[in-house]
Amino acid sequence: MQPKILIIGTGGTIAGMADDAEKPGQYRAAQLSIAALLAGVSGIETAAAGPLDAVQIAQIDSKDMNDEVWHALLKRCDAAMHDEAVRAVVITHGTDTLEETAWFLHCVLGRLAKPVVLTCAMRPANALMPDGPQNLKDAVAAAAALAADGQPLLREVVAVTGGGELHSARWLQKVHPHRLLAFSSGEQGPLGWVDGVTVRLRQGYASPAPGAADGYSGSQWLAALPAPASQPWPWVEIVTSHAGLRPGLVDALQAQGIDGLVVATTGNGTVHELLLEAMARARQQGLPVWRSSRCSDGVISDAVLPGVADLEKDLAVALTPYKCRVSLQLALALAQVQAKA
Ligand code: SIN
Repeated sequence: MQPKILIIGTGGTIAGMADDAEKPGQYRAAQLSIAALLAGVSGIETAAAGPLDAVQIAQIDSKDMNDEVWHALLKRCDAAMHDEAVRAVVITHGTDTLEETAWFLHCVLGRLAKPVVLTCAMRPANALMPDGPQNLKDAVAAAAALAADGQPLLREVVAVTGGGELHSARWLQKVHPHRLLAFSSGEQGPLGWVDGVTVRLRQGYASPAPGAADGYSGSQWLAALPAPASQPWPWVEIVTSHAGLRPGLVDALQAQGIDGLVVATTGNGTVHELLLEAMARARQQGLPVWRSSRCSDGVISDAVLPGVADLEKDLAVALTPYKCRVSLQLALALAQVQAKA
């Protein structure tokens, strides 16, 4: 039998229900099961060009996304990567933290032999014109798409579908609170588009997975990241540099026991003088502090994609502050494992 596409449900607006379909802005996210969502998408089997299977691992509004759900996702994805009966994974997710989960999976899974595609919706499932069914069908079509060599088209990149666009986890950001086309990959542009069952990658799209590990790394990360209930993952917070800043916030966070700090800098990596002093103090006390621009597009001129060797550096990171937080958390987790070895 042909291997299946595994659909993993985590909640979000795609599974949301409005009390009044005429007022789709007032709804509760994460109400419908992934099985119910799939049953509502006509022609999804055609888009899959093979069997589908569904599993619900969480049912949450993604504003509440947490390490437990990420651990469960990593576990499921890793199992799917080793299971010959699975040829691709599609994940339904809320839009609010989608970019963080996509970046987490991109970092921990590394180079993929099988597609991993996340999708979402801006309107609840019972809106007059819901976008979720089309986005889900597009995600399945993207997961099923083959390249000219007969291999999966998206085999090396964690991708996201929404509004007919295909984005890579690397550049994707939610840029609008309620527009249907809520995502953008900024100056990089989308990875491609989905039109029916046709998936078109942008011509000349360079290096789909910058920063990814050399090979598949999901199983190593699963060993490095134990269930958070038994051992909490490193705690990393974000502090923003802004006008009218007052001292004390970094010290307060340190007193709470954070393991790392991301500073969302103004412009090209600059920081309010009071925060700069606090950052220097924190570093002297051994707290890893990375910088990332709060600008909605572009990265700090000398920014890099970070690794565990960069923990002690005053580093400008080529990621949004939210993705930088994920990368610092992972670098700290890896450093803990290396310290124990
Ligand atoms: C969520 O992120 O779970 C709610 C918002 C959305 O999916 O658009």
